[in-house]
Amino acid sequence: MHTILITGATGQLGGTVIDFLTHNSAELKLKALARNPEDEKAKALTAKGVEVVYGDYDKPDSLKEAFKGVDKLYFVSASDIEKRVPQHHNVVNAAREAGVKHIVYTSFARKNETESSPIYMVAEAHLKTEEWIKASAMTYTILKHNLYMDFVPFFIGENVFETGLYLPAGDGRAALLTRSDMARVGAAVLTGAGHENKEYNVSSDESVSYKDIAGYLSEISGKEVSYTSPDPQEYHNTLKKAGVPEEMIGVSLGFALATAQGELSETSHIFEELTGKKPLRVKDFLKSVYGK
Ligand SMILES: NC(=O)c1ccc[n+]([C@@H]2O[C@H](COP(=O)([O-])OP(=O)(O)OC[C@H]3O[C@@H](n4cnc5c(N)ncnc54)[C@H](OP(=O)(O)O)[C@@H]3O)[C@@H](O)[C@H]2O)c1
Repeated sequence: MHTILITGATGQLGGTVIDFLTHNSAELKLKALARNPEDEKAKALTAKGVEVVYGDYDKPDSLKEAFKGVDKLYFVSASDIEKRVPQHHNVVNAAREAGVKHIVYTSFARKNETESSPIYMVAEAHLKTEEWIKASAMTYTILKHNLYMDFVPFFIGENVFETGLYLPAGDGRAALLTRSDMARVGAAVLTGAGHENKEYNVSSDESVSYKDIAGYLSEISGKEVSYTSPDPQEYHNTLKKAGVPEEMIGVSLGFALATAQGELSETSHIFEELTGKKPLRVKDFLKSVYGK
């Protein structure tokens, strides 16, 4: 019997990892960290037979207490970009102090690690966290997640069939995986052997461009969906005029430019190697979202 604790378990990625683990949990003691153990999402975990323990990334003592007796920790990166550098420091320190043996961290796929990267806003905490983890005595697995495929509808907008696809991603390609497939990889790492001190590129075995995506949408809808890659400043101005909040424009623009620069293009066979299955294809994902 060994104990696995999942952080971010009340969220989408961590919650899906829990779902994959509860399917084969005979020799596992599963715990979930929650900052509000009384909320509905935490109670739903208890109902699945998972032990919910209190812990808040902002509160080091709560984390140290929660991590006691844990063999493997699945550490979901925090969602508040402004606060997550100190939060991640708290999590890694608490895990080390509590005697966690193996930490599995959800990081990000990239090539450029300098401040010139268009997604440096998400990079800083990940890069520092990887360093802290490697400097600790814990064994680790770093999961370098590509962009969630689930974000494509958010980037291309609700009216894509009327307006066409408008995004400054050029001819860049991205090896997108769904969040659910990333969770499957996480569950396989947590329950499998031989993942000590490894770093995996958690990306699909196919990469697609937004021109490909426009082609898939054309097939799905039966009418031509165009793709325009505007100048980044023009894109910014257009979205601002349409009333899109600055923060959302920054995320869309950052990931579009990262795609254009090939930051997300490296493919990987990790999903099939660890699960024996093929990842969900972008075309099939789009069909499930936009098909009738
Ligand atoms: N690769 C990508 O494309 C991509 C895209 C978006 C995000 N991400 C990263 O991946 C992570 C997981 O994604 P997701 O979609 O599962 O996000 P999500 O649904 O927002 O889940 C975030 C989880 O983190 C927990 N959390 C946040 N702050 C915390 C704190 N101070 N202490 C303890 N727990 C805290 C949340 O708890 P509550 O339920 O209490 O809020 C929730 O369980 C995100 O947090 C982000 O770092 C990656």
